[in-house]
Amino acid sequence: MLDGIHEIVVATRNRKKVDEIARMLDGTGIKLLTLDEAGECPEVVEDAPDFRGNALKKAREISSCTQRAALADDSGLVVDALGGSPGVFSARYAGPEATDLDNYSKLLRELEGVPTGKRGARFVCCLALVLPDGEEFVFDGVCEGVIAEKKMGQSGFGYDPVFIPEGHERSFAEMSPQEKDSMSHRGRAIRAFAEFLLDG
Ligand code: IMP
Repeated sequence: MLDGIHEIVVATRNRKKVDEIARMLDGTGIKLLTLDEAGECPEVVEDAPDFRGNALKKAREISSCTQRAALADDSGLVVDALGGSPGVFSARYAGPEATDLDNYSKLLRELEGVPTGKRGARFVCCLALVLPDGEEFVFDGVCEGVIAEKKMGQSGFGYDPVFIPEGHERSFAEMSPQEKDSMSHRGRAIRAFAEFLLDG
């Protein structure tokens, strides 16, 4: 499926993200390069209205700048009682310089008084792969759950301390990274991508 492609540039400077994807792609024979390893590229502005649009925009611009296959992701939290917010604005929900604490505290405030049955939410991850010839592939991952009444747990990042995945009573921040990966939106999208590589 990916004839002649042995290296893929991941459109992020976050080494942890690349390592996480590399762990799950083990055995596929694909080597991942960070943006810093692939050359100088201008910063991509994430201004699309949805996760898919942002992931494709990043992958297209990085593929065209590096002349290589590029993989980009976009992810966030979609809360039913807030009409889908924070969505693509998850990283900056409480403002442009917001910390994780600022963001999930704002979310808990917005949901004050909302009963358990109406606190449904999902994490969404969209992974886009763009090849040098312009061919495009998209892999989605979703993890359904509810927003907790208060912060639970210390690990993870972002909204992990307030997100309880469906079928569980612990938040993502109370799980090991492996347990979270086994059900998370990002884990699901990366596994779909790995299956695509192996099927090829
Ligand atoms: P990005 O895809 O790296 O731009 O992430 C967008 C934002 O969504 C992050 O800054 C977090 O606030 C939130 N987010 C995405 N994935 C997760 C997750 O697995 N746990 C907690 N928060 C997440």
